[in-house]
Amino acid sequence: MSTLGIVLVAAGRGERLGAGKPKAFVELQGSTLIEHCVSTITALPHGGHLVIVVPEALAAETLSLVSATVEPGSLWEISVTPGGRERHESVRFGIDALHDTANVVLVHDAARPLAPRTLFERVAAEVARTGDSVIPALPVADTLKRVGEGGIVHETVDRSPLVAVQTPQGFLREQLAAAHDRLGSAAPDSSENGPTDDAEVVQRAGGTVRVVAGDMLAHKLTVPGDLMLLEALLTTETG
Ligand code: C5P
Repeated sequence: MSTLGIVLVAAGRGERLGAGKPKAFVELQGSTLIEHCVSTITALPHGGHLVIVVPEALAAETLSLVSATVEPGSLWEISVTPGGRERHESVRFGIDALHDTANVVLVHDAARPLAPRTLFERVAAEVARTGDSVIPALPVADTLKRVGEGGIVHETVDRSPLVAVQTPQGFLREQLAAAHDRLGSAAPDSSENGPTDDAEVVQRAGGTVRVVAGDMLAHKLTVPGDLMLLEALLTTETG
């Protein structure tokens, strides 16, 4: 039987946030970012296998934290596994820990704690429909400029073909695993930056990536100001 697999990456240090602890363990209205994500994911109706990737020292703590969060009667099985130095390594370890039956995989950043159930469902459905890799995206609202040394503006960038990309991102498991294998075995190229999302890993391996509508609720926590924005979004959502 095939099932949905979700890799929740939560092993980052969160240095830009400066909260004195890994970002995924920061609290938003009394619950950690991980708990917010787990409660959304385990309410997804079809069930599946969720692998949470955390810093090794916090693995035991994470298991007890999330077992209290899972909805009674949920069809989700949860595992916790240690992460790597870079995000793509954490994703790789998460894929390796997924049950073999998971043939569609969603990768989600714990740093997007309010991504709603409908977004997970939209992405998973589009992967199943097309067999392509699928990412949620929003149009870019701000005017964009390319800036050089000393803060001098070189040019305005045409924003019409640009989008801002979120997670969860969805993939056929075989394609995602093969693309990460390829990245892991490639000789490091100092002129190339590491991939910042999984869609790029798949594209570097020649895969097709398509977009679906993103959701403002999937806003990412990066700097302290984002915490205020997420608090406000959560208050609005829960009334
Ligand atoms: O650092 P950034 O905010 O881009 O991280 C995005 C997500 O990837 C976060 O949820 C973070 O916990 C995760 N991550 C990880 N392992 C790393 C780096 C980041 O799981 N080594």
